[in-house]
Amino acid sequence: MHSVLTGLGLTSPVLAAPMAGGASTPALVIAAAKAGGLGFVAAGYKTPDLLAEQIGQVRAAGVLFGVNVFAPNPVPVDPALYRAYADLLRAEADRYGVEVGGGTPTEDDDHWHEKIDLLLTDPVPVVSFTFGLPDARTVAALRAAGTLVVQTVTSAEEARAAAELGVDLLAVQASAAGGHSGTLTPERVPPETPLPQLLGEVGAAVRLPLIGAGGIATPTAVGTALATGAAAVSVGTVLLRSDESGASTPHRDALADTRRRCTVITRAFTGRPARGLRNEFTDRYTAQAPLGYPALHHLTSPIRKAAAAKGDAERVNLWAGTGYHNATAEPATRILTGLTRRLWL
Ligand SMILES: Cc1cc2nc3c(=O)[nH]c(=O)nc-3n(C[C@H](O)[C@H](O)[C@H](O)COP(=O)(O)O)c2cc1C
Repeated sequence: MHSVLTGLGLTSPVLAAPMAGGASTPALVIAAAKAGGLGFVAAGYKTPDLLAEQIGQVRAAGVLFGVNVFAPNPVPVDPALYRAYADLLRAEADRYGVEVGGGTPTEDDDHWHEKIDLLLTDPVPVVSFTFGLPDARTVAALRAAGTLVVQTVTSAEEARAAAELGVDLLAVQASAAGGHSGTLTPERVPPETPLPQLLGEVGAAVRLPLIGAGGIATPTAVGTALATGAAAVSVGTVLLRSDESGASTPHRDALADTRRRCTVITRAFTGRPARGLRNEFTDRYTAQAPLGYPALHHLTSPIRKAAAAKGDAERVNLWAGTGYHNATAEPATRILTGLTRRLWL
């Protein structure tokens, strides 16, 4: 493992990827550290108060951890397209007696400044960014506070831009990954480059240590990523059914449902490309959804919440990477240590 990681105290190269929306609970972050790796409190969608509370819970366990933040990279929605999409979704909202998210698009920044202030006032060991690049001053301030800074990238070009900012590590995310793509150009669907190839391209472009992510769900895939340039890997989907995961019941059940046979990249739920299990919502709306993050996230949120509460997986964003059939229901530490099985042979 790279000295940056061993220096932090990591003994396993398998990290628990940040998963906003509920999956990354403090218990999952603690479990990842207990397995010798590192987990991330996912700041995305949380209020600064809830973020501070969850950081406090993990800190109280006395373990190594990181915090993942959505860096603003808004894709403002075209108002006419937004209205047309809202009209289209009204029938879905009516099923549950909820309103689609308001008449005017919400274009917020997910409390960016407050979250950065929090992380500078009360520094944490690692901060990672996705969706956009922070400004160089923020990176420098975090590093000066003793925090290791990680940037998610999905191409060699993005890796060069992140390296110029002075970050310490890159999380190299292939399109096989579950959830949102960290792409800096969300108006384009990321190319389906396999992780080993992407690691090669990024490794040729920059000299930073790399964390490989996307579709890793077996010990063999861990070994391949480490052999093709990754200093560590991070896994999300294989942890979604773990005891410590906060994923909803319909989400867990859908991952285990052998009748579901594929994942798709869609922006139907949030206006930003993300990979999830195919369901009625992705079938109906993937081709119709306009671009627009975070406006579409807010627009569809009431439908997704109501559907999840009713156990209706057809209208929930079932984020999943291509390795979803390997997700098992057991303690996260067992899943994470199981993934290192072949490394010591
Ligand atoms: C449910 C879910 C939520 C996610 N939320 C975030 C997030 O908040 N921040 C982030 O950087 N990546 C997020 N991701 C992407 C993961 O951090 C990681 O890149 C991905 O899970 C790796 O691919 P895998 O799912 O195939 O293991 C999410 C992924 C999933 C499945």
